[in-house]
Amino acid sequence: MSLRDKINKEKLPGHVAIIMDGNGRWAKLKGKKRIYGHKNGVTAVRETTEAAAELGIKYLTLYAFSTENWNRPKDEISALMSLLVSTLNTETKTLTDNNIRLLAIGDLDRIPEKVCRKVTETIEKTAGNTGMSLILALSYSSRWEILNAVKKITENALDNKLSVNDINNELFTKYLTTCGIPDPELVIRTSGEYRISNFLLWQIAYAELYFSDKLWPDYTKEDLYEAVLSFQHRERRFGKISEQLVQPEIICGEDD
Ligand code: FPP
Repeated sequence: MSLRDKINKEKLPGHVAIIMDGNGRWAKLKGKKRIYGHKNGVTAVRETTEAAAELGIKYLTLYAFSTENWNRPKDEISALMSLLVSTLNTETKTLTDNNIRLLAIGDLDRIPEKVCRKVTETIEKTAGNTGMSLILALSYSSRWEILNAVKKITENALDNKLSVNDINNELFTKYLTTCGIPDPELVIRTSGEYRISNFLLWQIAYAELYFSDKLWPDYTKEDLYEAVLSFQHRERRFGKISEQLVQPEIICGEDD
């Protein structure tokens, strides 16, 4: 039985988020420049996106460029931005052929105008697609996102548009760039690093974490299947006890 066949389609993670790491090391191992790793990373992006859509996963978020990545050498940043534009140019048809819509989260005001225009254009062109949503995290970091939410909530509170007592989980979630997108249930990080790196900190409160030793350009559909299978073998208790999962009538201590 293949790995793909072992996956239970009824128990898929609704949202998978991936920290694509290891492009630079992959290139270095081959005696090449870092951008060579990023270019080959695009193949893994295509493979993973296709595998997720074929499985029936509804949301896939890829951490493509973090707020901290702005501190990289200028030539690597501009090569990454050009790669993003060229990939969107070549892959828009593939997105539509596979009924995938593109979304973006992050501080898009910081990315170069030409890149922002391409991202917006692809989002608009694919908006009618109803299969999977592919979310690119661009110029994204959780601390930026959370501070941004706090500022907007404060402004609205000062303008008497909401009261302090209105602030709860549900309201806070609406002020994040992921508003309307369900929380990830599975987070994958490649390259053997065990970090979250400022990624979706609020949203992954109860996500299952999966770490792969593969460097991102080597990541394949089979690797995604392995991660999904691992997810399906975990017991997700959300703070409850095992017995409550099989017998929901066991009295809960708190409503929330
Ligand atoms: C991390 O590897 C990877 C990135 C910062 C960029 C990811 C970009 C791509 C895969 C290509 C473009 C993406 C899309 C969606 C078109 P790293 O450079 O930090 O690797 P290292 O830790 O080995 O140095």
